[in-house]
Amino acid sequence: MKLSCIGCGPGDPDLLTIKAVDRIKKADAIFTPTSKEGKPSIALSIARKYINESTTTITNLIFPMIKDKDLLKVQWKTNSQIIADTVHSGKNCVYLTVGDPSLYSTWNYIHNELKKKHDDIDIEIIPGIPSFFAFAAQAKMSLVEGDQTLGIVPACYDLDKIRHTVASCDSIIFLKDGRYFDSVIEILSETGFSDNSVITIAQDVSVDEEILETKKLKDLRNTKNPAGKYFSIMVARKNG
Ligand SMILES: C[S@@+](CC[C@H](N)C(=O)[O-])C[C@H]1O[C@@H](n2cnc3c(N)ncnc32)[C@H](O)[C@@H]1O
Repeated sequence: MKLSCIGCGPGDPDLLTIKAVDRIKKADAIFTPTSKEGKPSIALSIARKYINESTTTITNLIFPMIKDKDLLKVQWKTNSQIIADTVHSGKNCVYLTVGDPSLYSTWNYIHNELKKKHDDIDIEIIPGIPSFFAFAAQAKMSLVEGDQTLGIVPACYDLDKIRHTVASCDSIIFLKDGRYFDSVIEILSETGFSDNSVITIAQDVSVDEEILETKKLKDLRNTKNPAGKYFSIMVARKNG
């Protein structure tokens, strides 16, 4: 009884690994996360060209974008039970996730539930290219060198926690939602990033709609941040 969780990379289907494509092609049942009923799954859109839709069932599992932990837990239990039942029926199952499964992924909730209640299921995790490595490649930039430190920060939570990380790192990767970037840009100026620090912002990395802009911090403060969607990344380098 096997379940493979597959990191589908940032968006370009050519960035899946050979092993990921092999497991997708062999799957009887594919599970893929989405935030709302009827909303297309991004992970599915990345993997679709490798799925044999005449022999594979595809199930969208809902992971609502809410902060109520009790409601979320009910949903995680329901989703993991659906997957467990399918694995127990003898099917070859695959769970798709964007980027890499170890980084802010819905997979973590499924995995925890399966470990608690279905530890008979053999789980394989296939890594994917995380969004920020695809971002660095598209921007043709290095994230850190030598003794520099790198922080990864979700931009949409506690600003004090963000301030603490920003103050102690040489480069910061901000994830999760470009609509929050304006408030973290303020924090950069307060925590040792000079006016000439280089900030790169991207949205929809590695797909046709990609937006990518590099600016100095002083210029960014006076213009509208170009990222207005959930699928956005901002990288700030203290020393240019
Ligand atoms: C729930 S996290 C998933 C991260 C993913 N597991 C990874 O390895 O990159 C979603 C966040 O990842 C970032 N992200 C993922 N793919 C992206 C892309 N193609 N372009 C820009 N940002 C992306 C955005 O910051 C988005 O809000």
